[in-house]
Amino acid sequence: SDSDPLQDLCVGDLKASPSINGFPCKSSVSSSDFFFSGLAVALNTSNSNGVAVAAANVLTFPGLNTLGLSMNNVEFAPGGVNPPHSHPRATEAGVVIEGSVFVGFLTTNNTFFSKVIHAGEMFVVPRGLVHFQWNVGKGKARLITSFNSQLPGSAVLPSTLFGSMPGIPNAVLTKAFRTDDATVNNLKSKFAV
Ligand code: GLV
Ligand code: MN
Repeated sequence: SDSDPLQDLCVGDLKASPSINGFPCKSSVSSSDFFFSGLAVALNTSNSNGVAVAAANVLTFPGLNTLGLSMNNVEFAPGGVNPPHSHPRATEAGVVIEGSVFVGFLTTNNTFFSKVIHAGEMFVVPRGLVHFQWNVGKGKARLITSFNSQLPGSAVLPSTLFGSMPGIPNAVLTKAFRTDDATVNNLKSKFAV
């Protein structure tokens, strides 16, 4: 859903200030600008979510500038959860490379669509909708995801709500979640940055 390009290529000059439609073009380009090995790197999933993401977007792979797409490598430890999040600027399509993954998204009416899918199977998440994945297999799991934006953005609900800097006032969170300060403080302590 990014703007259409007006030339064949425009490798981003990340040292220049971004403008409304991405980065200015680098003046000299070579083959290496159009290849990226960052999705081949094995990721360390020993963290509290049991998940790790490597992103190939315009910031890591400037050859994507103006091309309207990007990809991620998402690796899961057994039981790992990629927490509920949304991409404000992109629809997501993904394919399971390894393992068995429970994939779900929610509409703006709170209808929940979900399925367990296996290696070779695909899913889609409409632009902006909240979604997550959970490794329900016995071993590791791995997804490759793709986006129709060079920089889809990701609002990760737990850390957006409880780990912002500065924090959202407790008065807002206790009312919104119909709970008390102790519960909100406990959650804030886990997502503190
Ligand atoms: C998975 O949801 C991803 O954003 O890569
Ligand atoms: Mn996603």
